[in-house]
Amino acid sequence: MKFGHFDDANREYVITNPRTPWPWINYLGCEEFFSLVSNTAGGYSFYKDAKFRRITRYRYNGVPMDAGGMYFYIKDGATVWNPGWKPCKTELDFYECRHGMGYTRITGAKDGVSASLLMFVPLKTHAEVLKLTLRNTTKKAKRVKLFSFVEWCLWNASTDMENFQRNFSTGEVEIDGSTIYHKTEYKERRNHYAFYGVNAKIDGFDTDRETFLGLYNGFDDPDAVRAGKCANSVAHGWSPIAAHQLDVSLRPGESKELVFTLGYVELPEAEKWQRKGVVNKKPAKAILKRFDTSAKVDRAFAQLKAYWDDLLSRYSVKSGNERLDRMVNVWNQYQCMVTFNMSRSASFFESGIGRGMGFRDSNQDLVGFVHQIPDRARERILDIAATQFPDGGCYHQYQPLTKRGNNDIGGGFNDDPMWLIFGTVAYLKETGDFSILEEKVPFDNKKGSEVTLFEHLKVSFDHVLNNLGPHKLPLIGRADWNDCLNLNCFSHDPNESFQTTENKTKGSKAESLMIAGLFCVCGRDYAELCARLGRKAESARAAKAVAAMEKAVEKHGWDGEWYLRAYDFFGRKVGSKENDEGKIFIESQGWCAMAEIGKAKGMPEMALDATKKHLECAHGIVLNQPAFTKYVVEYGEISTYPAGYKENAGIFCHNNPWIIIAEAIAGRGEDAFAHWAKIAPSYTEDRSELHKVEPYVYCQMVAGRDAAKPGEGKNSWLTGTAAWNWYAVSEYILGIKPDYDALVVDPCLPKSLGRYTVTRRFRGATYEITVVNKSGRGKLAKPVRLPLINGTRKFVVEI
Ligand code: BGC
Ligand code: NOJ
Repeated sequence: MKFGHFDDANREYVITNPRTPWPWINYLGCEEFFSLVSNTAGGYSFYKDAKFRRITRYRYNGVPMDAGGMYFYIKDGATVWNPGWKPCKTELDFYECRHGMGYTRITGAKDGVSASLLMFVPLKTHAEVLKLTLRNTTKKAKRVKLFSFVEWCLWNASTDMENFQRNFSTGEVEIDGSTIYHKTEYKERRNHYAFYGVNAKIDGFDTDRETFLGLYNGFDDPDAVRAGKCANSVAHGWSPIAAHQLDVSLRPGESKELVFTLGYVELPEAEKWQRKGVVNKKPAKAILKRFDTSAKVDRAFAQLKAYWDDLLSRYSVKSGNERLDRMVNVWNQYQCMVTFNMSRSASFFESGIGRGMGFRDSNQDLVGFVHQIPDRARERILDIAATQFPDGGCYHQYQPLTKRGNNDIGGGFNDDPMWLIFGTVAYLKETGDFSILEEKVPFDNKKGSEVTLFEHLKVSFDHVLNNLGPHKLPLIGRADWNDCLNLNCFSHDPNESFQTTENKTKGSKAESLMIAGLFCVCGRDYAELCARLGRKAESARAAKAVAAMEKAVEKHGWDGEWYLRAYDFFGRKVGSKENDEGKIFIESQGWCAMAEIGKAKGMPEMALDATKKHLECAHGIVLNQPAFTKYVVEYGEISTYPAGYKENAGIFCHNNPWIIIAEAIAGRGEDAFAHWAKIAPSYTEDRSELHKVEPYVYCQMVAGRDAAKPGEGKNSWLTGTAAWNWYAVSEYILGIKPDYDALVVDPCLPKSLGRYTVTRRFRGATYEITVVNKSGRGKLAKPVRLPLINGTRKFVVEI
């Protein structure tokens, strides 16, 4: 069952039924001001950092689901309704939500009045603009009362939720004409306030939540709306909100447009005040003025569209397969930009409080957006590298506002350093900008510790070599990519976090085959890079270390039909036929097969066959089999999840592309494409009631075959799945790969893809590459290397 449809020409997903099986959201903003908005106008806004600069409040995991947002109430006689159906849930005569590139348009209609709400964050603006068009579709005059509503968050989203003995006394606002200013804590250490204004005269306002809603009402039944009148309340402590009241009369057929602006302002200490106790409103007024007419808003909206046209024109495909084309041309690239902006911080599954920017996550995300915004990728790489330690180890995350690393979600993940090589090489191949390697970057952000970025790559590489175990395989540390395979944790206390609790590393023999494969892939890249830089000795040293790792895997990492997953603390096999549960895991099959370890002995293909045989199901490839049915203290969190969920035999969509890429490297185009089509959102659209989450973006996890409801998706939007599927489809299936001095064409196709054209911008030129799978073999005997060119050129590659 579907709840809407794709509108490819407009690059929108159109939701036609508000009762989606889960809130289907979109992200507004692509620079510093962001909003999350659901298909029923739920959500919240923040500036840069969802934890420290939360502008509007949102309650997670609430009852009902998705309560709080950018609401408008329309009172027409005795009927009260919202354009987005919620929160009143009054049955609408028409409902539609269009999620587009950086904007959402929600339209509702009831009893001859239609309300269409366009929401977006204009470029280079610290504000969200909400243009509301009210139209009388009847032949009679209409008078309605319109109420806006947002609830202010007291900036720090964590303390906002817990420190009520203070919070209930701190709230402060100012009202100035049609604008409500939120200035809690402004008179002390904060240099920022927020505002919500409208470009029309208002007939009332409220800023105190209890007055507007009533203490015992929900958002669905505010006292003020029921009474048809705001009380002009001024919040002192308690919970500040912003609500405008506008009495609107509409002649037959008439439309009226109103522009609401929700903005954020920061001021230097000396300019904070207009006069004692009155905030300096100049910057806010300047923002309000930029959007005080519909024409101005429309211009800003056109600029946003042009911005996305440009970003999405850098890689596009015409293949005749609409599900493939819409993922490649629109939604996968869009999701990659969102993961660039958010990392894993704020979604409807991530609270925005728990996680900042991940070291591993953000490096992986790079392959998803480096072709679109290389300059920002450059900055991101330098920010990430600056959180590394001198020994190559890393903080697992940093906070975007401060750019300082922290251990809030644990540290000592021994795969982390490798991802810096992965991300940097992707940047170099895309841009050819070797100057980045000369940039001086500190360790742990400490002044005076700066070395070149190249040195950071070197210590990353060495971190693995300096942490080898008894089989000369990489020690796993706290965990590798699989955060839940906690081989050194041994936790018996339910109050401990698997991620942060102290590890028993002394004497540990826990080694990871996933890191071994990752090391071979990234280590070869590092060796090649060194050779290109003329660092011959370093290149040879790296190549030797990689060769030794391959040997170690062949000798100690092969279980007969597939690669082992790990050795545990005591040096016992993990992911082996010898185990009762967890006999085979996906990660090591993906990475060791991508690295083609043991190719001469046919290991990669055997591993891929075993993956198909043991791990594949109707909805994708599960992480491990058999699923764990009991808690294994020496494995940690992985064995805590019920069978079929998350890291315990869920379909972790993030690692499916590792298999897809490995299949493509092995030349098995049917398998590569079949694996992809199982998890691609555009293919899940028809079973949305089961899949639950948005059919236009990847989700992190789909319930595996052992679960109660196989096929049910969770954790949409913020996941490495976006970048990895982009990488798999764009570079390995369609096969257009940037390289240091060429654009390489190396597809791996199923029979169903007979011909397609990719338009790819690369190093300032435009390549129009038509691939014809004439022989049906789907793979070239040798990749074609297209030279660097100027202007636009067409190429035809026949297989
Ligand atoms: C989840 C992982 C996640 C980790 C760190 C675990 O509970 O299953 O997917 O990466 O927590 O937040
Ligand atoms: C989610 C994390 O963001 C990612 O880094 C990790 O690898 C997966 N969970 C698997 O545990």
